[in-house]
Amino acid sequence: MNHGLISTWREFLPDITDSTPVISLSEGDTPLIEAKRLPTVFLGAPSLRVFLKFEGLNPTGSFKDRGMTMAVSKAVERGRELVICASTGNTSAAAAAYAARAGIACAVLLPKGEVALGKLAQALIHGAKVLAIDGNFDDALRLVREIAADESFGIELVNSVNPVRIEGQKTAAFEIVRDLGDAPDFHALPVGNAGNITAYWRGFSEFAALGKATKRPKMLGFQAAGAAPLVLGHPVDEPQTIATAIRIGKPASWDGAIAARDDSGGLIESVTDDEILAAYAAVASLEGVFAEPACAAPLAGLKKLAARGYFGDSPATVTVTLTGHGLKDPDRAVKTVGVALEEVAPTRDAILTALEKTR
Ligand code: F0G
Repeated sequence: MNHGLISTWREFLPDITDSTPVISLSEGDTPLIEAKRLPTVFLGAPSLRVFLKFEGLNPTGSFKDRGMTMAVSKAVERGRELVICASTGNTSAAAAAYAARAGIACAVLLPKGEVALGKLAQALIHGAKVLAIDGNFDDALRLVREIAADESFGIELVNSVNPVRIEGQKTAAFEIVRDLGDAPDFHALPVGNAGNITAYWRGFSEFAALGKATKRPKMLGFQAAGAAPLVLGHPVDEPQTIATAIRIGKPASWDGAIAARDDSGGLIESVTDDEILAAYAAVASLEGVFAEPACAAPLAGLKKLAARGYFGDSPATVTVTLTGHGLKDPDRAVKTVGVALEEVAPTRDAILTALEKTR
């Protein structure tokens, strides 16, 4: 039985002590699914073995649960009765769920009109106070940081600027090393506020230092072209992308992302929204894995790198984090496929005629 990642990885989580009440929803231990057709059919890189770390199968449907079990457990340990976060959606869903589990209150600050409906629904049903601002994620994060910095309010900030969030999220790298028996050659993931790339690099580094892996992967981070501050080397005031999860112009963990890139000999690049949507549809139709659009950024990125010969022809293992579940944003799936439902008469013959066309 999965008792949650704090229970599984406790010895590697120094913030957890005997007096920490563990708030868990049995997060972590997500599957590492080998992509069977993607490398050849979509990526154009038959020499790669590609494994999908499907974080959409966490309790609230994203990797944020890993950080949130830590952040909310520590908040309760500190006697907090209210947690707060800014969010493009997934952090708010996770914060709301873990706060509900802990029996404490949660407030979330969201960019108005830019959050996928599924994520909003989660925050609401878990009973969070949901506030929308006429501004973007970066504005929302600045505001909640300001509010939480005033100790007199006693509010716990549970964005990834809270260091225990990164500690929880590093456990995904531990699971990859455990499942593969070693670190991969490359690890690819989407980058927004840059907490997760920082966390994975920490996880891979810690396991290599402990002798649990013989190497560390090159970290390959991908941003959306309209929201690519780390690629441009400067903040973006008005980030734009259909991948709303990573619509971020001023990543809080900027230095962590650059260190992961440079220390690993990897890279951070951007992909266009069209490339993201093509990869989003490809992983769903070729592998049966439904991930939200932001997760497709690294797949689009791998395709781009393969096309310019980055991987060469020798065999290599690549792991890719699919950070959130596709059901968070069903609207986008329907829009992407773009077919109206085909109506058929309720007869055997009409159905068989319709099926003829699909064979
Ligand atoms: N993928 C998804 C599905 C996300 O929700 C996020 C971030 C990222 C990737 C990027 O991760 O910020 O650690 O670089 N979502 C945050 C939120 C910002 O509020 O849910 P990062």
